[in-house]
Amino acid sequence: MKVVIASDHGGMNIRKEIISLMAELNIEYVDLGCECNTPVDYPDYAIPVAEKVASGEVDRGILICGTGIGMSIAANKVKGVRCALIHDTFSAKATREHNNTNILAMGERIIGSGLARDIAKIWLTTPFEGGRHENRVNKITAYEVTFE
Ligand code: RB5
Repeated sequence: MKVVIASDHGGMNIRKEIISLMAELNIEYVDLGCECNTPVDYPDYAIPVAEKVASGEVDRGILICGTGIGMSIAANKVKGVRCALIHDTFSAKATREHNNTNILAMGERIIGSGLARDIAKIWLTTPFEGGRHENRVNKITAYEVTFE
């Protein structure tokens, strides 16, 4: 599995934590920054990550900003992306099993590095359940393709 990760200035600490987790788990990753001392605009990071996932260049994406909200809104504008904003481990597992999410968003002003690490580990290692959930996810994709 190959993962692309990015954050704005509000998510740099958690991004570093998740990068070290992926190194430990032997997960290949691409880090798109930011390496910023001054504020940046989260769509400039969310959209390139989302496009890499939607195009199939990478399998999954992880986005961190202050709240995770801006990143998740921007990522979900890209067709083919299913981005979930997650701040608890139950949802991390459920969103992989039920929604087959391909991008995880988190907010560094909401949770600490330890919880973010646990969430990311669960999200990265939990498979999609398929079955009845596949039909539901397919309905989202079917809706998306009506907007060319
Ligand atoms: C930046 O101040 C902040 O707005 C951003 O990190 C994020 O929380 C947006 O949703």
